[in-house]
Amino acid sequence: MPPSEHIILPPSVREFMNRRPRATLYKAPGRINLIGEHTDYNEGYVLPGAANLHLIFAVEPASGRDLRVRAGRYDEQVLVDLDDPTIPMGHWSRFVAAVVHTARAHALPLCGLELVVDGDLPAGAGMSSSSALTSGLLFIMNHQFGWDLSMERLIRLAQESEHRTGVRGGIMDQFAIFSSRRNEAMLLDCRSLATQRVPIPDDGPSWFVLDSGVHHNLVDSPYNQRREACERIVELVRVRKPEVSALRDVSESDLEAIARKAAGDDLAKARYVIEENDRVLVMVEALKERDWSRTGLLLFQSHHGLRYDYQVSCDELDFLVDALASLPGVYGARLMGAGFGGNVLVLADHTALDSIRSQLTPAYYVQFGLPLIIYNITLDNGIQIIDKQ
Ligand code: GLA
Repeated sequence: MPPSEHIILPPSVREFMNRRPRATLYKAPGRINLIGEHTDYNEGYVLPGAANLHLIFAVEPASGRDLRVRAGRYDEQVLVDLDDPTIPMGHWSRFVAAVVHTARAHALPLCGLELVVDGDLPAGAGMSSSSALTSGLLFIMNHQFGWDLSMERLIRLAQESEHRTGVRGGIMDQFAIFSSRRNEAMLLDCRSLATQRVPIPDDGPSWFVLDSGVHHNLVDSPYNQRREACERIVELVRVRKPEVSALRDVSESDLEAIARKAAGDDLAKARYVIEENDRVLVMVEALKERDWSRTGLLLFQSHHGLRYDYQVSCDELDFLVDALASLPGVYGARLMGAGFGGNVLVLADHTALDSIRSQLTPAYYVQFGLPLIIYNITLDNGIQIIDKQ
């Protein structure tokens, strides 16, 4: 585990610590993904890392058989019964209840806890605050209740918890949130879970995340439908090649062979996944060579595929990517995360920030009536305990 460090605590966490000075502090980062979108559940490649934006938890054991969880950002507290957790759909506490369900399903011991969660990681902005919450809770329980589980097991439990909330997400977010390291992205093979660390130097261009303000809830989005489209293609390919188990194994010529049987939209989505997998591997090389133009071009190509073939973009994100393409100092941009709103990831010289602020922010507001929130992202460590010194 990386060394812990000092951090500025949000007011709700400070207030909790004043009342309970013996509480333990934890932090769980948001997930960023340099490239490889919608490839994880197709057993392909992704290139994620942890963002320097976090959820902070202060936790103390409590008597009773429930979890008492306050969300500082909503100034709201919920009580989740450890013996009878109900999952309240549409409310942030569904992630807490889902984690309790998962722990119970695996016969993991649970005890009462009181905790507060807060931080600067925005919700619904495509940086996986939901995975930061579920992964954070599982990390905390593992630590507080002495489960002694491996990181991989915790990652799987976090993914299973999120599936209980209705979204059949892949493994990327939880993996990145648990195991990222500062100034590194991680080439993750979502089939074998093998990783290769890819240094992201802090003397290169900057990574920005532009929060479009179109905030999504993946349960109501067609995320699961995208997954089903990929599964339909795999089923068709398996008729001729039964050894194929995911789009990871499918080639362009396999797609040609089933072209007359498959829906055109499904074929376009599968083609996007095949191309995106290749782009991940090419980007790893481009980053190693510090070839920022090539890296940026891959970002634009990824967005093009997500927009026209995979169809998970929206007008706001397309407007931003199109405008960024003509701003000086910008190498590339694409929607990041599931899509259907959320954010745009940008690789640009730091000086481009001025023109993003002075030109893009007002133009975006005029067009959509939404503020553009800009984050300068650096790659950070995964989940950890915070040292109280
Ligand atoms: C969400 C899911 C991930 C991944 C991305 C798209 O963040 O949680 O598993 O599928 O969308 O790449």
